[in-house]
Amino acid sequence: MTFSPTNTYFSRKADQVLGEVCSLVGHKPQARARQTLFKMVMLLLLCVVLPLTCGHQEESSGPADRFVCSPVINIPKLACSGHDDNSCLDACHSKIEGLERHLDKEKKKIADLEQRLSSLEGQRVRAGLGSAADPGLSCKEIKDTVDSAQDGLYHLRSQEGIVYQTYCDMTTADGGWTLVSSVHENDMYGKCTAGDRWSSTRGSTTNYPEGDGNWANFNTFGSVELATCDDLKNPGYFSINASDVMLWHVPNNTPLSQYKSEAYLRYYTTDGFLRQYGGNLYSLFKDHFPIVYKGATGNGPAIPITWDNGSEDLLKSLLAPNVLGEVTPGFVHFCVFNNERAPHAVCPGLKYNGGNVEHACIGGAAYWAEVAPRQCGDFAGKDWDGYGTHTGWSSSLLELESAVLFFYR
Ligand code: G3P
Ligand code: CA
Ligand code: CA
Ligand code: CA
Repeated sequence: MTFSPTNTYFSRKADQVLGEVCSLVGHKPQARARQTLFKMVMLLLLCVVLPLTCGHQEESSGPADRFVCSPVINIPKLACSGHDDNSCLDACHSKIEGLERHLDKEKKKIADLEQRLSSLEGQRVRAGLGSAADPGLSCKEIKDTVDSAQDGLYHLRSQEGIVYQTYCDMTTADGGWTLVSSVHENDMYGKCTAGDRWSSTRGSTTNYPEGDGNWANFNTFGSVELATCDDLKNPGYFSINASDVMLWHVPNNTPLSQYKSEAYLRYYTTDGFLRQYGGNLYSLFKDHFPIVYKGATGNGPAIPITWDNGSEDLLKSLLAPNVLGEVTPGFVHFCVFNNERAPHAVCPGLKYNGGNVEHACIGGAAYWAEVAPRQCGDFAGKDWDGYGTHTGWSSSLLELESAVLFFYR
């Protein structure tokens, strides 16, 4: 005999519980989660629901006596017969409560699975970070997100929303280096003429004490694939919040694919010095050490470097012989004034201790007083004793005809 009230109550309760399970099954978007959940539900049915009977189960008499929650989940209606109604009801309540507790545990497992799936889905989406569709903020952000990222071109987005493409070094010292600029001397005989963007393109003059001012403005120029053929400055120069710099000395006209392999000097800082100066060279020069002829501030910091390729000895072998007594290799030195109070933006690979800075350091303003305009230009006085002669105050031909590439991390 079927006990109708109990059976009705149980039917409603079981329907509710199974409904929740079926609802969860039906709403899992991921196939693996559905399969896992389906297995759990089937286990649940076999171990808990099916034994949930009080006494003998009556033969079902047709579709109306069966719970149907999906085409594959179809279990017999449960019945109490031949037992005291209250004890049967208590037993059923107890079973249902146990079932609900079990269901709660299963829900927790499902929630954990969903979280893991969501995380995996997030990683899959972020795997495209650095593409045109999903530009990164810096190469470091891309490297931190996509562990397998390789050296090459990526799309970045400046804080102002400008999307640009640049080269990321993803392997040197754990990678994450963004190419932001290059200083290139296109015409050593042209003294502060076209192409001297890191000093003055408007002649040798005191009219513009900051020269073109590109060390500390929002101007941009050049392109990543021409970084060794002409000057480069992309929005990363003033937009990226960085800690360290890396410099490469690359022969002029080297193709992008060979920047790294052809860079005979590669070195980087490790002490996070940029954090003290606003996070990039723009703010270092703008707010701390302005590149201004006869500027009021003194020399900027000399930061120790770690060599990735080349050495102090190789650097010394390429410098003008006469500067060797005035320098200490193993640093990158910013904003260094010479004897005539002309500022030089960067001394690549060395600290300049003396006053003839113009023969080893690059970039500056618009006026060098010593026999003007002979030292005016992006590479200042590197040709003082002849073009590439590597005698007196002239650097080697290789140094004269190489671009210096700047990276941030
Ligand atoms: O910068 C070098 C200059 O100050 C001295 O040149 O020709 O007298 O050795 P020079
Ligand atoms: Ca020039
Ligand atoms: Ca230039
Ligand atoms: Ca001098």
